[in-house]
Amino acid sequence: MVQRLEGRVAVVTGGASGIGLATVRRFANEGAKVVVADLDPASGKAAADEAGGLFVQVDVTDEEQVKALFQTTVDTYGKLDIAFNNAGISPPDDDSILTTGIEAWDRVQKVNLTSVYLCCKYAIPHMQANGKGSIVNTASFVATMGAATSQISYTASKGGVLAMSRELGVQFAREGIRVNALSPGPVNTPLLQELFAKDPERAARRLVHVPLGRFAEPEEIAAAVAFLASDDSSFMTASNFLVDGGIAGAYVTPL
Ligand SMILES: NC(=O)c1ccc[n+]([C@@H]2O[C@H](COP(=O)([O-])OP(=O)(O)OC[C@H]3O[C@@H](n4cnc5c(N)ncnc54)[C@H](O)[C@@H]3O)[C@@H](O)[C@H]2O)c1
Repeated sequence: MVQRLEGRVAVVTGGASGIGLATVRRFANEGAKVVVADLDPASGKAAADEAGGLFVQVDVTDEEQVKALFQTTVDTYGKLDIAFNNAGISPPDDDSILTTGIEAWDRVQKVNLTSVYLCCKYAIPHMQANGKGSIVNTASFVATMGAATSQISYTASKGGVLAMSRELGVQFAREGIRVNALSPGPVNTPLLQELFAKDPERAARRLVHVPLGRFAEPEEIAAAVAFLASDDSSFMTASNFLVDGGIAGAYVTPL
């Protein structure tokens, strides 16, 4: 594996599972020191141990905990180069606007959007001190496209992540701090597998829109994150980096 991240220090939120876990592994394989930040202590610690890094238990909606996460990272490894702000949820009670209550709306906004605000707020000063940095915020292809299978708060939260990433990318560009939004298409994670195994029609309704004809594997998303985190993407900031199997570009897909 190429060693593009040799000597870099990275924080991955939601690093205990799915896209985050695949990225923890990829970052470590490319030479980075990785801090795994997650609510889940068992799988979070296992991920950090496997990567030879550090586990910090954190609720990304809690300002003091997020502040402490980045301070602990710098206290332990001396600096902060990369923040992958990726923790997010898509609970079943976030659905059509007609049935989604304010409690579900607020919970999803907090975990998916407020958390990214907090992580950027407390990562950027450390990157300013370091004279450079790369922030990757996980949005989604639904920030760009409408879905008739609505998850209204989720979609709105990812639209917020996309707009915030663009603005921060522009604001901090001259300080060597790049901020990009990563917009994955549907990814083959345990949650998705369980949902679609129970309901094949639901899976088929979505798969028909993907030109590549399948969902992404977490490792394919992690490869894109590693690119955005590394100097290979040095002329990219404020972008919406779609890794979506072609969904956003498609009108009619192959049979
Ligand atoms: N899976 C997909 O199809 C897909 C598609 C597009 C975007 N995304 C986005 O990618 C990101 C990761 O998704 P995933 O599929 O890997 O999810 P996942 O459920 O496999 O992993 C999410 C991780 O975040 C952690 N987490 C949840 N709430 C947290 C909190 N408050 N504080 C700290 N950690 C918390 C969980 O413990 C878990 O380890 C999310 O932002 C999601 O919205 C996923």
